Parts: sequence; C-alpha cells; structure tokens
Amino acid sequence: MLDLFNGEAPWLEPLAPGAGILRRFAFADAPTLLEQIDEIARRAPFRHMVTPGGYTMSVAMTNCGALGWTTDAGGYRYAPVDPLTGAPWPAIPASFLALCHRAAQALDYGDFHPDACLINRYETGARLSLHQDKDESDLRAPIVSVSLGVAAVFQFGGLRRSDPLRRVLLEHGDVVVWGGPSRLFYHGILPLKPLSHPLTGTLRYNLTFRQAAKAN
Ligand code: SIN
Ligand code: FE2
Repeated sequence: MLDLFNGEAPWLEPLAPGAGILRRFAFADAPTLLEQIDEIARRAPFRHMVTPGGYTMSVAMTNCGALGWTTDAGGYRYAPVDPLTGAPWPAIPASFLALCHRAAQALDYGDFHPDACLINRYETGARLSLHQDKDESDLRAPIVSVSLGVAAVFQFGGLRRSDPLRRVLLEHGDVVVWGGPSRLFYHGILPLKPLSHPLTGTLRYNLTFRQAAKAN
C-alpha cells in the first residue's frame, strides 16, 4: 500500500505497517489552521496538564471536538467539558475535518470520523515522552497528526516500549497517519530545538485527530 516509488503518491513516506507520513500535506492550509488554533485557544486556553503521577507536562494542550483529552491527578480521560472553563470544548472547524479526511483517505482509512482533536503547543525544550494513544474506546480508527511551525523529531517504535525506534523529522505541514497494525505503536517527540518558523516563531503546534467514543 505505502509504496513511495509507485509514481502516484511521491509525498507518501512509509513509516510502519498501516502508517505513513504525508509530507507537506497541510502546507497550503497551515495559515488557516493556525488562525483557527488561536480562535479555539481564546475559548479553551492552552494549559500545562498534570499527569496522574504528578508531573506537569512541558507541552501545553487544549482540545476541540465533542470530547477532549485531559489528564490530572485522577487519571487520563476524554471529557465533553473543558475542566478549566466548565464549558464544552469548541467544535472541530470544518477546515480541520476536511484536511483530516483527505489525509486518512490517502492511507486507505476511508471512514474516519474524529470526535476529538487534541492541540499540542511545544515551546523550546518541550517534549512528549514515549507513549501509546490508548485512551480511545474504538481502536479501529486511525490517528491523524498534523505538524505546524518549528520542526521536531518524532520517534515511532512498536507495540512494546522497548522496540527499536525510528526517528523522523516532522516539518511544517507534514501529516502522519497511523492505524491498523500500528495503531498502538509507541511514539513521542524529542525536546524542541531553539529554532524559529516564520508563521509560529519559536513554537511548534500539533493537531491529533482521534475517534475517542465507540463508533455506532
Ligand atoms: C501525540 O503523540 O499526541 C502528538 C505527537 C506530536 O506532537 O507530533
Ligand atoms: Fe500520541
């Protein structure tokens, strides 16, 4: 499926079974996506969440969608209401959904209906340690991840934490999709280097689209 040299989709870079990188796929949409992130953050501000173990995350997070991923001393969960504001998370903008559908389709995940979009904001030095995305109730749906701004090193491993890691640079506009056999593969982001991007300054943003609730 993920043949880089088939002459049809040279921007599709295989990563693992069921996973690939769509290089620059979101490049043209990026200015709009960034404006919409600002709009969402006005209503659901970025915050540094605390893990169940008491560690304050270096990545600042917010969400849009019917459900939003949160963590606190009580654990990780998807919640319909922003615990910071007491209001529902802002809706996923149509432009986000359109991009996400196109990306999922490019990797043959034809029927992806995300109800949650986690928005990560990385400052210099921020990182996301190796983890699995496993808080979603339906693991048949893929994950679609959009990178904006400063480039970062993405680590992508296997089903066990100790599996060998591939390291790939994710640049502005790159979209990673993983699902099927790689849906539960460990992944993370190395500390962000002190670099600058014309659209985001020293920041990196990442959108991850998930289907968090069980599909009907
Ligand atoms: C994530 O694992 O949720 C985000 C990965 C990234 O920031 O690229
Ligand atoms: Fe993740």
